[in-house]
Amino acid sequence: MANLVLIGFMGSGKTTIGFRLARALRRRFVDTDSEIEKLTGLTVTQIFIKHDERRFRSEEELMVQKVAVLPDVVIATGGGVVLNPNNIAVLRQTGVVVWLKADSELIAQRITSSRNRPLLRPKPTEQKIREMLAVRECLYSSAADVVIDTQGKNHEQIVNEILNKTGEIL
Ligand code: S3P
Repeated sequence: MANLVLIGFMGSGKTTIGFRLARALRRRFVDTDSEIEKLTGLTVTQIFIKHDERRFRSEEELMVQKVAVLPDVVIATGGGVVLNPNNIAVLRQTGVVVWLKADSELIAQRITSSRNRPLLRPKPTEQKIREMLAVRECLYSSAADVVIDTQGKNHEQIVNEILNKTGEIL
């Protein structure tokens, strides 16, 4: 059975939806950011501050390699996982990649008070989100086997749509 891999911008719901999907499929859920935090003993923000983004990206690449070989798991990734083409190649070898698509307005609403997103410090603004999305959208799009438009949908609808669209390939 293939893994189910969620990609998408910060605040697109990867962790929440991934957790629910795993429960529905009776599979283990892994979140690469949380696994990196467990392994390093530092939060993602601390890694960016104490070290730098490069260090985080190298921890992320190693973690992607580890989780991609786990059997039958649901994987939530960090929003920047697509920046490294190796990550996508590795994840696609064992998994179906699902992009949770959301626009900058919705993302801004969801993460206005978020403090654990170092790339959006000191404060997430819609302008900053729009700029980052402009760079990343084509990466999400080309990495994805399945695209889910999350606009105007609740968690249950999103989970059901993913299950319907991936049912035959999983
Ligand atoms: C990042 C997204 C974050 C985390 C790190 C970098 C990004 O994960 O991996 O702060 O580059 O978009 P979430 O998408 O879970 O917030």
